[in-house]
Amino acid sequence: MRIGSHAVARMLGVWREGPGPAHQRLSDRLRLLILDGRIPLGGTLPSERDLAEALGTSRTTVGSAFRTLVDSGYVSTRARTRATVRLPDGPVPERPSGTDEGTIDLSFAAPAAPVRILHAAFAAAVEQLPRHFERHGYDRYGTVELREAVARSYERRGLPTRPDHILVTNGAQHALALLARVLLAPRGRVVLDHPTYPHALTIFSEARARIVPVALTPNGWDAEQLEAAGRQADFAYLIPDFHNPTGMCMPSSLRRQLRLGCPTVIDETMTDLALDVPHPEPFALHSPAAVSVGSVSKSIWGGLRVGWIRARPSLLERVEKVRLTTDLGTPVVEQLATAYLLERNQSRRPEMLRQLRSQRDALSRALSEHLPQVHAPRPAGGVTMWATFPEPVSSRLAAVAPDHGVTLAAGPRFGVGGAFERHVRLPFTLPAPQLIEAVRRIAQAEQALTQGVTGIHAPARMA
Ligand SMILES: Cc1ncc(COP(=O)(O)O)c(C=O)c1O
Repeated sequence: MRIGSHAVARMLGVWREGPGPAHQRLSDRLRLLILDGRIPLGGTLPSERDLAEALGTSRTTVGSAFRTLVDSGYVSTRARTRATVRLPDGPVPERPSGTDEGTIDLSFAAPAAPVRILHAAFAAAVEQLPRHFERHGYDRYGTVELREAVARSYERRGLPTRPDHILVTNGAQHALALLARVLLAPRGRVVLDHPTYPHALTIFSEARARIVPVALTPNGWDAEQLEAAGRQADFAYLIPDFHNPTGMCMPSSLRRQLRLGCPTVIDETMTDLALDVPHPEPFALHSPAAVSVGSVSKSIWGGLRVGWIRARPSLLERVEKVRLTTDLGTPVVEQLATAYLLERNQSRRPEMLRQLRSQRDALSRALSEHLPQVHAPRPAGGVTMWATFPEPVSSRLAAVAPDHGVTLAAGPRFGVGGAFERHVRLPFTLPAPQLIEAVRRIAQAEQALTQGVTGIHAPARMA
């Protein structure tokens, strides 16, 4: 696959800013794009001349960056052929992110499993399983048990919901992909809060949608801008409940007022993770046409791979039909276990919320101690902090961080057009001692960067 110079320039975004020589910034940023999978392996890069022209920089800068990539094994060259993207030889590419011994993985924002209650849930699920043996086991809407449990959890949150308003999916990501297929035509406009959840961006780009980012500022959502953008859009995707990556929560007054004027998908993946504030009311309480997407990945465990869509039955019928081409249903045991957990309100366990609160506070204190120049507001919920550095160092920091024993998700992953180069998402899902050590390592990496000592060759993968 040949990758055009303008496509590479778009992916690079604002690569030029930051400390150190330009060629090094360029090669670090290209390397991160390769490791993130945004520049595909086996793809061929544009010529030095074309890329230099598209970037408005010198051929020498591009040439030096390419040479660094060749030397570190990320690009191969042969006479009269274009530079081809690859990974370095050796054991490194086979190792999944974060499994290098001693490396602290901050690229994932999801908690470990609550072992005891999961055991109990699966034991109960296996006991109930024989009830399902008489039928074929394929159910594209999900089991009655889980649809009832999810509907009841909405009722507890004050939103009348029937089981036929629920379709069970294999996680929220699956739900978003199905909804994009039903609601989004190629070239359709998608309004979203910016920054946003990166894998949603991937879904919308693959659907060839036109993305209309509306900035989520330190003061939160801008109703006027969202409504203006919504009037011209085909689809809106918002994360009002402890937003990933900022952790912000949309105030109730805004939920009441906001009218987007286009099909709106509300991602409620984090809704149960209220740390300092009451649990937010469902967005659909005030916007009955809104489609809600839920999941137990953050509140219980990602390995369950269970999520859902709450929508009117006529829309769910369309979702059920497109589902046919990708999968034929969610595993029954996992659904029964999830129903058991939801019926017992296990997605809002006080001890889990207490632990997240104390991890968040430990991260916050470590940042003040080791990286006092970084601004990282303490979110009232969710699992992530959105840290702002004084300089646009994010991609380079994520590129060098593995050399210092920590993997990071760089800010530009959470936006379009190369935005958020001063930001890094920091999850607080690991135990406090690891978070403190991770911050110490990030501080070391940042210092190495600003001093221009970046002889990095170890990869970091984004999750
Ligand atoms: C906002 C948001 N939506 C969706 C997902 C995907 O969730 P699931 O694991 O249920 O597919 C995530 C996971 O990180 C997320 O943060």
